[in-house]
Amino acid sequence: MGALNGQTKQDTARTNLVGVADRLEEGRALAQDVWSVFNAANLPADCINLGQGYMNFSPPQWIKDAASEALSTVVANHYSHPKGRLRLREAIREYYSPILGRQLDVESEILVTSGANEGQYSVLTAFLNPGDEVIMFEPFFDQYLPSVVFNAGKCVYVPLHPDPTKPKPTSDDWKIDFDELRRAITPRTKLIMLNTPHNPIGKVFTREELLKIAELVEEFNLIAMSDEVYDTLVYDGKEHVRFATLPGMWDRTVTVESAGKMFSATGWRIGWLIGPSWIIQPTLAATTRIVFCSNSPMQEAVAAGLEQCTKRRFVETQCAEYTERRQILTDAFDRLGARYTLPEGTYFLLLDISNVTWPEDYPFPASVEGRGRDFKACWFIAMEIGVSTIPVSEFYCKEHVGIGESFARFAFCKDTDTLHKAAERLQGLGKFMRR
Ligand SMILES: Cc1ncc(COP(=O)(O)O)c(C=O)c1O
Repeated sequence: MGALNGQTKQDTARTNLVGVADRLEEGRALAQDVWSVFNAANLPADCINLGQGYMNFSPPQWIKDAASEALSTVVANHYSHPKGRLRLREAIREYYSPILGRQLDVESEILVTSGANEGQYSVLTAFLNPGDEVIMFEPFFDQYLPSVVFNAGKCVYVPLHPDPTKPKPTSDDWKIDFDELRRAITPRTKLIMLNTPHNPIGKVFTREELLKIAELVEEFNLIAMSDEVYDTLVYDGKEHVRFATLPGMWDRTVTVESAGKMFSATGWRIGWLIGPSWIIQPTLAATTRIVFCSNSPMQEAVAAGLEQCTKRRFVETQCAEYTERRQILTDAFDRLGARYTLPEGTYFLLLDISNVTWPEDYPFPASVEGRGRDFKACWFIAMEIGVSTIPVSEFYCKEHVGIGESFARFAFCKDTDTLHKAAERLQGLGKFMRR
C-alpha cells in the first residue's frame, strides 16, 4: 500500500515541520474551545441546542428580499469601498445620529466591518503596540482574548462580582469593584473593552457605573471600545446608556455594532464601528489590510434593514418577542425552584448550577476533565436532560475560573416551540439538584 496515491509511509509523517506562531497558544486558539466540546456532533442527536448564541430562525423576509434584490444587480456582487457601501453608511448615519445626539460624518466617523468581531480586531491592530494592556471585565466574550493577544497586547482581567446572598438575583446584582478596576490600570493600559448589554450576564450597565468608568477613561487617557451589539435587546424599560454619549466620551469611544444580532443574520458577517475620526481612520487602514472590504450584497440588505426598521417598528416587535422567549425559560426555572440571574438585556441567561450533582462514576469524556466544574455540569445536563448549554468558566482567565464555574449559559435566541420543549425537559433537572 506504500505506493497508494504515490505516498510512502515516510511522506505521511512529514507533518509539523515548522512550528506555528506562539500567539496561537497564547491566544487560546489551539486549545479545544468550549464550542467544539459542546458541538452538536458530540452530543445526543435530539439534544436541544441552547448553547451557541445564534438563532434557529431566519432574518425577516423583507430583509432577505433586499438581499435577493442586491444579488440581482451587478455592482453589489463586487468589491465595496473598504469604508463600506455608501448606502449602508448613510443608513447608519440616519439611524444613529439622533441616538448619539450628533450628526455623524459618513466619510470619517463610520466604518462597516465583517461583523463586530472583525471591527474589534481592526481597532486593536490599529492601536496596540507590543505589551500594551487592555482591560476587560469578566466574564468576557471569548473572542476578546485572541483578538488582543494576536495583536501583541496583554489582557488584564477585572471580574464582575455576583451577589451569592440574593435568592433571585438580576444581572444588575453583578457589580464592578471600582478599586479593583483602578488598581488594574497601569502606565501600559491603552484601552478598555466595555460590553453593555453584556454577554453572558445580560447586565445593562447603569449610567452611574458608566460615568465612573468614564472618569477613569479620561484620567488615564484610554480608548473605550464599547461593544453594544445587543443594544436592541433591553427589557423591562431598562435604559441602555451609550458610552459615547457620556460627557467627554465621544472623543474616546468606538462603538461596536452587529447586523448579526440586530437582524438575526449572524452568518452575513456585517457589523459597523462608529467613533471619532482619529479612531476610525487608523482602523480603516487596518481593516483594509485584513479583509479589504465586507460582503457587498449583504451590506445592501442591512442598509434596507436600517432604513426601514423604525417605520416597521422592527426593534420594538423583536424585543417583545425576545421578552416572551426569556419568560419561557424563567418560568421553567421558577417551576423547578432553580436559581438564575434574570437578564435585563441580551438573549442569554445564567443558571446557577453549583447545586447540580451527578454520580461519582459518571462517564465524562476527556474533553471536560481538568476544566471548571461547570464543564462537567453542562455535559451532564446535555446528556441526561437533552439541553445543551455553555459553561461560563470559559469566559474567565485561569485565576478567576472559580467565579464562572457556578454558572451555565442558556441562549434563548430560539423559536418558542423549541424553548417550550427545552423548558419541559429542564424539569427533569430537579432530581439532580441538591436542595
Ligand atoms: C459581546 C459580543 N460582541 C461581539 C460579538 C460578535 O458579533 P459578530 O457576529 O457581529 O462578529 C458577539 C457574538 O456573539 C458578542 O456576543
